[in-house]
Amino acid sequence: MKKTILLVEDNEKFRRLTKLTLKKEGFDVMEAETGKAAEELMQSESVDLVLLDFLLPDTTGLKLLEKWSPNYPETVFVACTAYGDIEDAVKAMKMGAYDYLTKPIKADELKAVIKRAFEMKTLKKENKELKQAVQRKYNLHGMIGKSQKMQEVYSLIERVASQDITILLEGESGTGKSRCAHAVHLDSTRRTAPFIKVNCAAIPSNLLESELFGFEKGAFTGAVRSQEGKCAAADKGTLFLDEIGEISLDVQAKLLQFAQDKTFTPLGTAKEEFSDVRIIAATNRNLWEMVQNGEFREDLYYRLNIIGITLPPLRERIEDIPLLIEQFLAEFEEEHNRSYTISKDLLTHLTTYPWPGNIRELQNALSRAAVLSPSGQLRLEDFPQEVVNHFSGKEEENSPASLDLDEDFSLTDHLEQVEKEVIETALENENGNQSRAAEVLGITRQGLLYKIRKYKIGRGRK
Ligand SMILES: Nc1ncnc2c1ncn2[C@@H]1O[C@H](COP(=O)(O)OP(=O)(O)OP(=O)(O)O)[C@@H](O)[C@H]1O
Ligand SMILES: [Mg+2]
Repeated sequence: MKKTILLVEDNEKFRRLTKLTLKKEGFDVMEAETGKAAEELMQSESVDLVLLDFLLPDTTGLKLLEKWSPNYPETVFVACTAYGDIEDAVKAMKMGAYDYLTKPIKADELKAVIKRAFEMKTLKKENKELKQAVQRKYNLHGMIGKSQKMQEVYSLIERVASQDITILLEGESGTGKSRCAHAVHLDSTRRTAPFIKVNCAAIPSNLLESELFGFEKGAFTGAVRSQEGKCAAADKGTLFLDEIGEISLDVQAKLLQFAQDKTFTPLGTAKEEFSDVRIIAATNRNLWEMVQNGEFREDLYYRLNIIGITLPPLRERIEDIPLLIEQFLAEFEEEHNRSYTISKDLLTHLTTYPWPGNIRELQNALSRAAVLSPSGQLRLEDFPQEVVNHFSGKEEENSPASLDLDEDFSLTDHLEQVEKEVIETALENENGNQSRAAEVLGITRQGLLYKIRKYKIGRGRK
């Protein structure tokens, strides 16, 4: 696609010559003689680069730059100054101009600056895309985590999602079992069909059977009309049985039949029905121990646990904490329409707290601190009492090691560190072949070289 350049210049002769040069180079050129005309074009057209004169009949280039630079982040600005006016040129650069040209402008110089400006723009775009790629690697359908343990969970999910195998999710409360079940569904070929969740702990045992399998009118007192069960509702999709450890032995027997051949009999009927369902079950209890104690059927246990995924507690993956905090704060910003910041010290503190309630506890604690913070800068004192106490040294003993954050750590630094790691991995996987690594990363080789220099990748090795 042709790039569009806007020429803001009141000198007619200069405009004509410049336009000619740029057209020859294959650009679309628009012209504006005044600030007002330029403003209108900026608003109505999509402009890739603005060549901006300093002295205009109705305003100055600096004023326009000040206004436009923050509002048009996709546009590149190049200032044109009168000979010797270096001070203005410096001001323009500070206001976000990419470069400046001094009049009289030579055609070669003009072409070179514009070429560089567009190269820079491409790099910026790639930078953004690379960041997004990094974020994708650490985010599987909203499940965030960069730790080795979470990477293993992702790779397991990716391997089994599209097969119809039953999955048993285990893990402490708040570790993300429900989130994980949904991620499996979204990663599978069933993603466009329903994802139906049944919380087995929230439904009284005598009602669970009808909830799962449905019933005919008159099947029991109170059954005034027939109702479809969750197994039927999940047809072609996924049935998520949360807190599976809570179901009675009686219902377990019926569930076993359904898990085996996907058939069930609604209450009050004699007719067997079929539903094409993928089952995912979750529990925060030790199901195997329950089997040993005769509280859970062994055959059902093996049926459900064809693939077992254990969600690790947060204290065993503290490197995920900054990422999760970043994600949650971004969500709150969206929700509350204000911005939040967190100091490096507080972030480090939060990685030393053991989080017995795991991600849910972290999320709730942050939400509380965000709501209570007057300026948007989170403060330790606004966290729940147990978190605050932990840092006043009362519970030092059982705390896990803290995450070692660099001196000038910030969330941006964190992202950059992550980006560096992704590039290093890509280079390693491709045995140092930069062209192939660039391809894998989805950026140009030039973009990759820029990153390698920026992060000093490969220096100091061998
Ligand atoms: N990896 C993750 N990235 C981002 N958010 C997460 C992640 N895991 C969990 N969450 C969020 O944390 C909260 C708790 O997760 P979830 O409900 O999935 O946990 P759970 O293990 O099912 O808990 P419980 O055992 O109490 O049912 C939810 O708000 C969920 O969206
Ligand atoms: Mg849950």
